[in-house]
Amino acid sequence: MSETNSNKRDLPATGSGAMFDNLAPRYDLLNRLMSFGIDKRWRKRTVRSLQLQPGDNVLDLATGTGDLAINIAKKHPNVTVVGVDPSVKMLEVGRTKISKADLTNRITMREGIGEELPFEDNTFNAVTIAFGIRNCTDRPQAVREMKRVTKPGGRIGILELGEPRKGFMAPMARFHIHQVVPRLGAWLSGAREYRYLQESIEAFPPSEEFAAMMTECGLKMLEVVQFSFGSCHLYLAEVPKDEGHIAN
Ligand SMILES: C[S@@+](CC[C@H](N)C(=O)[O-])C[C@H]1O[C@@H](n2cnc3c(N)ncnc32)[C@H](O)[C@@H]1O
Repeated sequence: MSETNSNKRDLPATGSGAMFDNLAPRYDLLNRLMSFGIDKRWRKRTVRSLQLQPGDNVLDLATGTGDLAINIAKKHPNVTVVGVDPSVKMLEVGRTKISKADLTNRITMREGIGEELPFEDNTFNAVTIAFGIRNCTDRPQAVREMKRVTKPGGRIGILELGEPRKGFMAPMARFHIHQVVPRLGAWLSGAREYRYLQESIEAFPPSEEFAAMMTECGLKMLEVVQFSFGSCHLYLAEVPKDEGHIAN
């Protein structure tokens, strides 16, 4: 292989698990700094909206370092969580946090991607994905997979960043995404990764379009909650109760 090809091969695809392997040691710190800690509130709201019952089991897709999985387990002492992510290093950081929180008996972490989930149909009572659907190369396929593994009547919560488009605070939020995020990211980690973050947020579809895609995938939309002037949305949906899953 030529040197150029081998260099290309060494460069992880943007948004991929391999790219997140490089960010894993600083990911939590960067997350808090860039969102001013507001992401904690968004996660809590997501957990509440699932309306979990004792004995339920939840899939947290693109779990990364496990923040949402840990939130779910702490809020619901009789619920189990499986975290799935393609980044081995993010999962490693997550496993350490889970162990420190004494939650190893209720949270398991495993490798996998959203587009091809390693679970049987109707396995989970609820599925979440926080800031991860943007990274799935085939989003409708990932949504169909989430639906397939969720029991009829179960809830799916997708938390995702986007470019604020309307409202008087939108220009300020856009300034944060375009100017602050890449600079802070470049300073603390590496320019490439955080340029990607800004570009992928900018390219994410408007909330109405994304919600329409979820409906096209066969989900019943319950609500779309807007946070921080539209820089983040929670897309909450339900798998129709009367539906048996058809293999994709
Ligand atoms: C921005 S992080 C979010 C992590 C975590 N959910 C959180 O709230 O902090 C995005 C995660 O998506 C993962 N990812 C990348 N491609 C993916 C895919 N195809 N399917 C599932 N997860 C993916 C990355 O490895 C990374 O851990």
